[in-house]
Amino acid sequence: MIRTSRLGPFRLTTKVPGDKSISHRSVMFGSIAEGVTEIEGFLPGADCLSTIHCFRQMGVEIERTSPTSVRVKGKGFAGLAEPRVPLDVGNSGTTIRLLLGILAGSSIFATLVGDESIGRRPMGRVVKPLRRMGAVIDGRRDGSYTPLAVRGSKLTGIRYESPVASAQVKSCLLLAGLKAEGMTTVIEPSRSRDHTERMLPAFGCQVEVRDREVSLAGGQHLSAARVQVPGDISSAAFLLAAALVVPGAEVTIEDVGLNPTRTGILDALAMMGAKIQIEETGSWCNEPVGRVTVTAGELQGATIGGELIPRLIDEIPILAVVATQAKGTTVIKDAEELKVKETNRIATTVNELRKLGAKIEETEDGMIIEGPVVLSGGRCDSHGDHRIGMAMAIAGLAAEQEVIVEHTEAIDVSFPRFVNKIHEMELNQIRKLGKTY
Ligand code: S3P
Repeated sequence: MIRTSRLGPFRLTTKVPGDKSISHRSVMFGSIAEGVTEIEGFLPGADCLSTIHCFRQMGVEIERTSPTSVRVKGKGFAGLAEPRVPLDVGNSGTTIRLLLGILAGSSIFATLVGDESIGRRPMGRVVKPLRRMGAVIDGRRDGSYTPLAVRGSKLTGIRYESPVASAQVKSCLLLAGLKAEGMTTVIEPSRSRDHTERMLPAFGCQVEVRDREVSLAGGQHLSAARVQVPGDISSAAFLLAAALVVPGAEVTIEDVGLNPTRTGILDALAMMGAKIQIEETGSWCNEPVGRVTVTAGELQGATIGGELIPRLIDEIPILAVVATQAKGTTVIKDAEELKVKETNRIATTVNELRKLGAKIEETEDGMIIEGPVVLSGGRCDSHGDHRIGMAMAIAGLAAEQEVIVEHTEAIDVSFPRFVNKIHEMELNQIRKLGKTY
């Protein structure tokens, strides 16, 4: 459980844990590469630990040399051993979908299971195109849901027009494509995050990117790499949002990933009138990295939709919190994908924010928020969804009364020690209010 209360003006300069998407990929690619991959800045969150756990079950030697440093001793695709037990992906959609792509063209049999939330997430979106490549996969409701079983087989490359902009679908098929005969191409309706395309070349693999189309040739071998993981902009978003809901606040996040397929949240906040300074300071493993500062100020409502959505898909719950403090109407549309995240994030965001007095309506493909509203405080629930838990805790920083968020263990999935960052904000208050966190 986390309790938060209204904060006074504060200034905070800090870093956030490593990027979740990049951490997953570094362990996966290291495990199918030949040689020793060294990863720094790894996210020790529950989801990425599930990825490590699954590859260890397949005989890959993975050492954690510090909480955020990982050494992976890969022996190539052929080095994967048949696991004796089901591979447990926990709560992680990225682990299961990318792993399916790797296993589909391997020479082993494996079963995949996850938690209750994974059991509700659609797997048909990867199972169907994988079957078109020749994959042998079975599972509940004809392979639409976990548990799944996959028997590695010979694959042929395909040209696949994905109906959804999903980096998990794209990455799954590209990973299967590495073992397929011929070319594998994925075309997306709009571009999803491109970490796979950026990281594969660091492992010696050639990938061709043309607008919304990504291709690679089968039969390529990966060789070990050094990966420095930038801070996760999706985690940074919660702290940056705090600067927007607390009058007089300012937050700077250093060493954060600035990949343009992920910075939609900064664009959306800028559209709402937020004062944002962005300074790119370098490139880590083909990923732009830098410093972002957000300063409190008046915000206006905006319409967020279209190609912006895949670039901020994980940030919509916290964007909704910010929108409660913006003047006028904020419309979030074209975001049906939210319904198949860790929870139905349209429903959970709307229901939980309503408990605090927000004026927010659910729509078929998003939500409509009216602001500004003085949030009342109260009791709400993460529903086991890390991003809902954090969004509600940040809402509490602007609420009249204390906000109590239940089931916040889930936050460990992506942002271990999130609560310490709230403590840091409290300690950095310029003028302390009577009642604090
Ligand atoms: C991810 C892709 C996104 C995102 C998830 C991580 C990834 O999911 O929501 O948190 O690492 O590829 P979709 O591919 O389902 O959009």
